[in-house]
Amino acid sequence: MPKNTWFETVLEAQRRARKRLPPSVYSALLAGSEKGVSYDDNTAAFAELGFAPHLSGLSEKRDQATTVMGEEISLPVICSPTGVQAVHPDGEVAIARACAARGTVTGLSSFASKPVEQVVEANPQTFFQIYWLGDRDRILQRIERAHAAGARGLIVTTDWSFSMGRDWGSPAIPEKLDLKAMLQFAPEGIRRPRWLAQFAKAGYLPDLTAPNLVSPGEQAPTFFGAYYEWMQTPLPTWEDLAWLREQWARISGGGPVMLKGVCRVDDAKRAVDAGMTAISVSNHGGNNLDTTPAPIRVLPSIADAVGDQVEVVLDGGIRRGSDVVKALALGARAVMIGRAYLWGLAANGQPGVENVLDLLRSGIDSALLGLGRSSVHELTPGDVVVPPGFTRTLGAT
Ligand SMILES: Cc1cc2nc3c(=O)[nH]c(=O)nc-3n(C[C@H](O)[C@H](O)[C@H](O)COP(=O)(O)O)c2cc1C
Repeated sequence: MPKNTWFETVLEAQRRARKRLPPSVYSALLAGSEKGVSYDDNTAAFAELGFAPHLSGLSEKRDQATTVMGEEISLPVICSPTGVQAVHPDGEVAIARACAARGTVTGLSSFASKPVEQVVEANPQTFFQIYWLGDRDRILQRIERAHAAGARGLIVTTDWSFSMGRDWGSPAIPEKLDLKAMLQFAPEGIRRPRWLAQFAKAGYLPDLTAPNLVSPGEQAPTFFGAYYEWMQTPLPTWEDLAWLREQWARISGGGPVMLKGVCRVDDAKRAVDAGMTAISVSNHGGNNLDTTPAPIRVLPSIADAVGDQVEVVLDGGIRRGSDVVKALALGARAVMIGRAYLWGLAANGQPGVENVLDLLRSGIDSALLGLGRSSVHELTPGDVVVPPGFTRTLGAT
């Protein structure tokens, strides 16, 4: 009898990903930085929050549909951009197909392994994400390409601090998969035959390049080549971000831009001043400046300060539908997920990503039912039990 490929929780998807992927690929997805304090806090903080459920007079119908940056989505969850992955041969195209099948947006990283044209073809509801990498002309070229491909929004991520080193060890990632690297990684691949077979069937090995950093047809840089250029790029100012916002508006006829990585109230206000459509309250999944608090702890202060001027989404630590409901109750319009869908992709390809979105949808529905809400738009802070000392307010003078 074939093994049941359906999984019942995101943590089960993670266990299957761990078994299925070569250790260095699995470990690159786990990521986290330094001691992993932020990584742990991102999920632990959700568990500190409780619910205040009702038991009667509950709603027969519960609606999850909403919008983010003008895109209608069937549940308040979108896939956050994640960079180069050797998880599955269909990579970001499989993720985009799953998002399209479940009625939500795909965030595509500029470090992704598939061209933006293919991803938009799989899901027209695509937001293209960029880092501040290279000079203004090159950045412009990239966003023009994304717009020409049909991307409907831009995500700008500027919170990366190039912090390196993890107490549990970083995976060795080859510059490119040449013969030498293949021999070096062969033992890992041989221990994970199903992963290897998927790539063998597709007829190629993961090439660890970033095709969306150049014009179509140009030689794509390797991940490390691009990372080096990024490290050499002067860091963006608020004026640069306002310029980028204007450029996207010019190219796209007023299209939306999200600034991802906001933790502080003062930065949230500056994002509003820079004309952003949305901000993502995020610590980059705990991959960045370790000991930054979990986004759910800083969300209430940011939503209070700017929630009526800019769309506020949250990413980091979402593993269950109930986490989504907690974030919405505390002021987010929607959430973005990273590892959850990557583990789903590793566990079972496109259906695995759909499985993750379905789990979140049913978890949101259960929480709405228990809370006596008929729509995600009715959630309020009173639906959540927030223990004393839970929240953090950063940068509010
Ligand atoms: C393997 C990996 C790669 C990532 N690459 C990017 C990226 O290229 N651009 C970006 O803005 N965020 C990137 N992120 C951060 C995610 O978009 C998101 O902020 C984070 O994963 C959310 O936390 P979660 O994984 O707990 O859901 C990456 C995260 C992971 C785990």
